[in-house]
Amino acid sequence: MWRVKSLDAILATAEKKSLHRSLGAFQLTMLGIGAIIGTGIFVLTAEAAQKAGPGMIASFIIAGFVCAVAALCYAEMSSMVPVSGSAYTYSYAVMGELLAWMVGWALILEYAVAAGAVSVGWSGYVVGLIEHAFHIDIPNALVLGPMDGGIVNLPAALIALAVTGLLVIGTKESATVNAILVAVKVSALTLFIFLAVPVMNMENFHPFAPLGMAGISAAAASIFFAYVGFDAVSTAAEETKNPQRNMPIGLIGSLGICTIFYILVASGVIGTVGAQPMTDASGAGLRPGSPELTAACKAAGDAAVVCSKEALAWTLRSIGWPQVGNLIGLAAGLALPSVILMMMFGQTRIFFVMSRDGLLPAVLSKVHPKYHTPHVITVITGVFVSLFAAFFPVGVLADISNSGTLFAFAMVAIAVLVLRKTDPNRKRPFRAPAIMIVAPLAAVGCVYLFFSLSTETKLLFLGWALVGLVVYYLYGYRKSHVGRGIIDVPELSPDAPPGPVAPMPGAPAPGDRQH
Ligand code: ALA
Repeated sequence: MWRVKSLDAILATAEKKSLHRSLGAFQLTMLGIGAIIGTGIFVLTAEAAQKAGPGMIASFIIAGFVCAVAALCYAEMSSMVPVSGSAYTYSYAVMGELLAWMVGWALILEYAVAAGAVSVGWSGYVVGLIEHAFHIDIPNALVLGPMDGGIVNLPAALIALAVTGLLVIGTKESATVNAILVAVKVSALTLFIFLAVPVMNMENFHPFAPLGMAGISAAAASIFFAYVGFDAVSTAAEETKNPQRNMPIGLIGSLGICTIFYILVASGVIGTVGAQPMTDASGAGLRPGSPELTAACKAAGDAAVVCSKEALAWTLRSIGWPQVGNLIGLAAGLALPSVILMMMFGQTRIFFVMSRDGLLPAVLSKVHPKYHTPHVITVITGVFVSLFAAFFPVGVLADISNSGTLFAFAMVAIAVLVLRKTDPNRKRPFRAPAIMIVAPLAAVGCVYLFFSLSTETKLLFLGWALVGLVVYYLYGYRKSHVGRGIIDVPELSPDAPPGPVAPMPGAPAPGDRQH
């Protein structure tokens, strides 16, 4: 179970299928922002406020910092092992099959559950837009999950299925579409900042941390979701010109830009409508996504941002900009599906690589004869994502997703450090600065955020990991190609799926490949 897939075999695979190096620093940054800005800032700002109050500003900074150091580790890894499969592939090469399997298993949480969370976030904005712009009242039973006081979140489930359909027929976002959607998101946030920040009332920042440091940490662990997605940049390493220069610019640049936006937007929310949490009789904060909070919000007439499913639109409506609030809803409605698409795309490709390595059944990597996409796994993923989206609140899904992501990020940080020791002479197109500080900081930061998640989330992660171990011993351990001595360097035929070698959305089309 400690068997590794040799780095050289992985690189040989990459070599055979090398992609055209066409991406520069600017495109990478756009790719990053396209994957990063989504439900986190648009929706989870309300959840962060419920957990930390105005102290959520500190939560945004903490989560952004952990992501920045993790990003540097990702950048080194991805420039050195420039193949897709992300953290799973890196771990396979460095820490052995069992840990790689566990990382791949955790990435299911990162990608599939996150896609569910973003679908729920999308639903909140689109429903709000329909209700406010067209004055159509949609029954809560059909647009909220059971824990939020409804029955089924139909719009969330439908958007997940629609995105699945697009992925099956092989839709990939072009660089142009990505650039347009980035512009839409950035304009929406900029508009928000321009309208909210000048009318802030500094008194709203007091008390700054009503639920103490524990609240700030808990909010940081949740709002970490808002930064997830930058790893999309690292998966494009193979297609990047001069990765030593452009990778870190793309990663740190997109994270930096998003962090500044997030802090300004969060300040705008706090400063205009206040962000004090709803508490129970004993003064403890009510858990987001719980029936207790739903009841408390109902009793208060939903007159607080922490009750809103569309925090930014709600804030603008509250400060006298109802039409602009609708416009923000429209922007979220247009742009969030691309984040769902990227997450589901990432998920299907991770499954694809795992199946190609023999750790999952080969049927999962079956490719559609007409569309050349891994349709079996795409449909299975899509069905699960839409079920998550239909029945769970956004915050719960985001936290579960974070638990898997934090595990994977910590593993990458450790892998980078291990490789510096065991394979010091390997060519590293990008070397993370001060690795002896950066990598441990990333690992410790991820562990700290992981332990700041709710007990339920941690237990769920543990349960998921145990199921993963059982599946591995029952299946992957015996079937693994590495274990059976199968060296697979798959040929790239024109009919190959846009699988593990596929350019990420926004990258060149398969036709651009150089053979
Ligand atoms: N960072 C992405 C979002 O916030 C996942 O939607």
